[in-house]
Amino acid sequence: ELGGYAHFMQKEIFEQPESLRNTLRGRLMRDEGDARLNGLQLTDEEIRSFDRVLILGCGTSWHSALVGRHFIETLAGLPVDVEYASEFRYQRPLPLKNTLAVAVSQSGETADTLEAMKAARERGARVVGVVNAVGSSIAREAHGGIYLHAGPEVGVASTKAFTSQLAALLLLGLHLGRRRSLTVEQGREVVEAMAALPAMIEQTLKLDDELARIALTFSEASNALYLGRGVSFPVALEGALKLKEVSYAHAEGYPAAELKHGPIALIDDDMPVIVVAPADHIFSKVVSNVQEVRARGGQILVITTEGNRDLSAVADREVAVPATHELLSPLLTVVPLQLLAYHIAVLRGCDVDRPRNLAKSVTVE
Ligand code: F6R
Repeated sequence: ELGGYAHFMQKEIFEQPESLRNTLRGRLMRDEGDARLNGLQLTDEEIRSFDRVLILGCGTSWHSALVGRHFIETLAGLPVDVEYASEFRYQRPLPLKNTLAVAVSQSGETADTLEAMKAARERGARVVGVVNAVGSSIAREAHGGIYLHAGPEVGVASTKAFTSQLAALLLLGLHLGRRRSLTVEQGREVVEAMAALPAMIEQTLKLDDELARIALTFSEASNALYLGRGVSFPVALEGALKLKEVSYAHAEGYPAAELKHGPIALIDDDMPVIVVAPADHIFSKVVSNVQEVRARGGQILVITTEGNRDLSAVADREVAVPATHELLSPLLTVVPLQLLAYHIAVLRGCDVDRPRNLAKSVTVE
């Protein structure tokens, strides 16, 4: 059942062109520049009545939510809050009027997420799910939702569910946006870019050999810093989480500009620093942040966009993903980070598919 792969994590990373196609199938409306989301069960009138969105999740699903905030704020013009489900459920119960709450969960069985969505509903929110496991508790508890159709995820470290969650949240942003103020033309631009993503992930997976080589240089480090800004900040968090989970190295994700407010003290000549820096509106700011690291040592790997300016002056190593709509870059930039974590874990002799102390779904508080 591993179909030639050494581990489920590796198989699932390489399945992403296919899992993403499955998430998008039948949902992209090219002419209308819209997303068909029949399972959402929201009328156009309801969609126009929302004045905020709240996204709830844990772990990798919380990282998807953080990226999703950018999607929904940009496409639908609605303010979005993102909360850890475990924190939200014990917060002061303020009313949630005109609020769309979105529970994100691969397994659909995460206890904190399930309880948080119940709390959101009791406070007056309309609650929908972004779930992979069909018929799971969270899917049943939701008013409606979007199934990922990514197929079963076996590796404990979430990989293909993350990219499919991002795709589902993009579809949601598009769907809400087109019923609010997003124009057909703007919608079409996003639809076209989304349709091209599966092939671009295929392209990105060709970086595997290069990342296996880069992993050799990082495999003995016991710490790593992951940096990004804007949509790439949650990608940095996700890259750090993947490394921690499967290789047991300590890693932190930071918004690149926050480094100078403390963590830069950690930088020495041996510290691996992985920077997620696609060519977007904030790229030049990220480059200045990287220069600050450079001046203090640090082994810098930059994940950027093909055809971007020469980064050899600031980076020790560089890998490039295909160019896409700037909002969509996380679906590509996360792939090298998944591969890097995988190869480092294998080199360190870790049990990649069953990391110590972890379970695939967390059904206890
Ligand atoms: C990380 C990972 C966990 C899950 C988290 C939420 O690789 O797998 O952080 O993302 O436990 O799980 P779901 O999405 O099933 O609610």
